[in-house]
Amino acid sequence: MQKIHTQKQQYYQHLRGKNPWILALAVVGLLGGGLLIASFLQSNNTSQLLCGGAWGARSTENATALQLEAILHYATARVVPQQSLAEISVSFEILRSLGPSNFLVFGLGHDSLMWTALNARGKTLFLEEDPVWVQTVLKDAPTLRTDTVRYRTRLSEANELLRHYSSEPDCSAKNSFIRGNDKCRLALNMLSDEVYDTEWDLIMVDAPRGYFAAAPGRMAAIYSAAVMARNRKKSGVTHVFVHDVDRKVEKIYAKQFLCKKQLVKAVGRLWHFEIPPAANADSDFC
Ligand SMILES: C[S@@+](CC[C@H](N)C(=O)[O-])C[C@H]1O[C@@H](n2cnc3c(N)ncnc32)[C@H](O)[C@@H]1O
Ligand SMILES: *[C@@H]1O[C@H](CO)[C@@H](O)[C@H](O)[C@H]1NC(C)=O
Repeated sequence: MQKIHTQKQQYYQHLRGKNPWILALAVVGLLGGGLLIASFLQSNNTSQLLCGGAWGARSTENATALQLEAILHYATARVVPQQSLAEISVSFEILRSLGPSNFLVFGLGHDSLMWTALNARGKTLFLEEDPVWVQTVLKDAPTLRTDTVRYRTRLSEANELLRHYSSEPDCSAKNSFIRGNDKCRLALNMLSDEVYDTEWDLIMVDAPRGYFAAAPGRMAAIYSAAVMARNRKKSGVTHVFVHDVDRKVEKIYAKQFLCKKQLVKAVGRLWHFEIPPAANADSDFC
């Protein structure tokens, strides 16, 4: 009796200490399964559920299969996502309240399978700077949707790019556009049509790398996230998350383009902004 009790305690300690993800994901899976069945029964648009194309919604079976794959992955993973549970919970709450969403994530990492599984019936796309890293990640998780992006900025240009923003008319909030915007160096003009043609409900800026001078930095990602959010045509706000706001460049650019007044939550090193669609007359980001 005593022995069994101890073994059980050890087992729970093992789960808690080693990998809280197995618990979190199991709960997510159970809740998600119930919600999926409920929404499937309610849906009068079953053809979309069953025959979604490459970019359409996943079928219920495929969504569940993906979530099971994620549970197995994180249950046995030696490396877990860099965001803390408290930080991840901020965007998880939004995903849960919105239901299947269009979720654009800057950076491919140990969190990618998790984001895809948390938005299993929605569309999750990753933008990654490093083509070698894309191949490494896709080898283990071929179902992740990834675009490789060649940034045209360097972290060391962060100050100069703010001056460029003030003097370049094509950067101004009034004109703000990113597709084909070759003059404004903060505009990500090299993305796929898929990215431009989708209205993103959530945008997570957790890349590109911004911890050494020659790295691309997150200036263009933050600027472009703000422009995409302001250009939203659908109702509702765009949720923009910026990680590593303990760093100077992330902090300054987030305040400049996503605006303090639109900051709704700050948890750990994560800021959560809600950006409403902008009226054409708006001449400032903030
Ligand atoms: C700033 S980190 C953030 C990672 C992610 N949020 C996570 O929790 O794992 C991500 C960037 O580091 C780069 N990277 C290169 N090798 C990597 C590795 N072995 N693990 C994680 N990131 C790597 C990639 O370009 C990637 O976009
Ligand atoms: C479900 O998964 C199968 C096998 O990977 C794939 O062929 C099919 O297109 C998927 N269906 C949907 C709706 O995602």
